Amino acid sequence: MTDRTDTAAVNGATGAPLWLLAELTYRCPLQCAYCSNPLDFAAVQEELTTAEWTEVLRQARAMGAVQMGFSGGEPLVRHDLEELVAEARRLGFYTNLITSGLGLDEARIEALREAGLDHIQISLQAADPDVAAAVAGSPKAHAKKLTMARAVKAAGYPMVLNVVLHRHNIDRIDEIIALCDELGADAVELANCQMYGWAHLNREGLLPSRAQLEAAEATTARWRERLAERGRDMRLLFVVPDYYGERPKACMGGWGSIFMTVAPDGAVLPCHSARMLPMTFPNVRDRGLREIWYDSEPFNRYRGDAWMQEPCRSCDERHKDVGGCRCQAYLLTGDAAATDPVCSLSPNHHLIEAARREADTATRAIEALTLRNVHESRVFCRQ
Ligand code: SF4
Ligand code: FES
Repeated sequence: MTDRTDTAAVNGATGAPLWLLAELTYRCPLQCAYCSNPLDFAAVQEELTTAEWTEVLRQARAMGAVQMGFSGGEPLVRHDLEELVAEARRLGFYTNLITSGLGLDEARIEALREAGLDHIQISLQAADPDVAAAVAGSPKAHAKKLTMARAVKAAGYPMVLNVVLHRHNIDRIDEIIALCDELGADAVELANCQMYGWAHLNREGLLPSRAQLEAAEATTARWRERLAERGRDMRLLFVVPDYYGERPKACMGGWGSIFMTVAPDGAVLPCHSARMLPMTFPNVRDRGLREIWYDSEPFNRYRGDAWMQEPCRSCDERHKDVGGCRCQAYLLTGDAAATDPVCSLSPNHHLIEAARREADTATRAIEALTLRNVHESRVFCRQ
């Protein structure tokens, strides 16, 4: 990834996209308070048809993309999911389903297996059913997820469980990992909530304190030792929140470098959050993917390094982190070309430090989180 970032994102020689994320729908039975879908998701009505998605897959594969994720919203809401998975496999993609598990049953697991699906990732909210219900807005979802996780494992899939960590569940990480162990997970992503979309709206109620974060990392390290002693092969990936770094991540491996998202209505984005940026993204209903990727203004805007401002422009590390995340820069400063404030060299780094201080003393109850919902979505609708 670093090599591609150095050559494609910074030196201007654009390579082919490697990853295609197909956000099949923004519809979802859950209402997670950290949903990464846009705040105005309800304004997106006209989802691509099966034929249009099939054409997207063909074009992406012809360009050289090899990995694809089906996500949403909840991709299982789409009744053509199996058909699209089968087409993706026929084209030669490695396919991954990113799901809440709701909408899954044994028959659908079998149908997806027949379609050739390579990999399933199920999200869990917590080990505690009450916390899970409060953050996802559904009292029944947790039990259903556990049942489906067991069914996925029984069907022979390598199972990755994804748990978004935040200040209301991170102190129970010991129980979370124990639950994943009991479910037979092959890998667990302990992904601290990143502050985009609905999570940014709820930041004060979600960002853990540094003390919480350090305790959780220590617990994860102890679990790794215990698992190794038992000879249990369950990989634990602990993803630190951006807000506790001193340098930003090279988001998406660089803007328009290796990653392409197609939104439910056909908008093509360099990342799943870019929709809230003040720019208009091209749509597969109007233009081909190849033209969009190589020639469209939005995809070229933050390639290379000519767009960078100081301190990135003259920084030795600019080829490593490409100035961080454009979405985070915009959310925090109102300028998508600014240095990501996560960087301690950014003149706006004080915004991150203030958020950390706020997290040390925050008392907001889990019930005060704004759950993803259509009413709020209309409030934030741009149209
Ligand atoms: Fe990266 Fe910019 Fe910070 Fe340098 S100033 S480390 S390029 S974000
Ligand atoms: Fe959009 Fe980082 S999430 S560029």
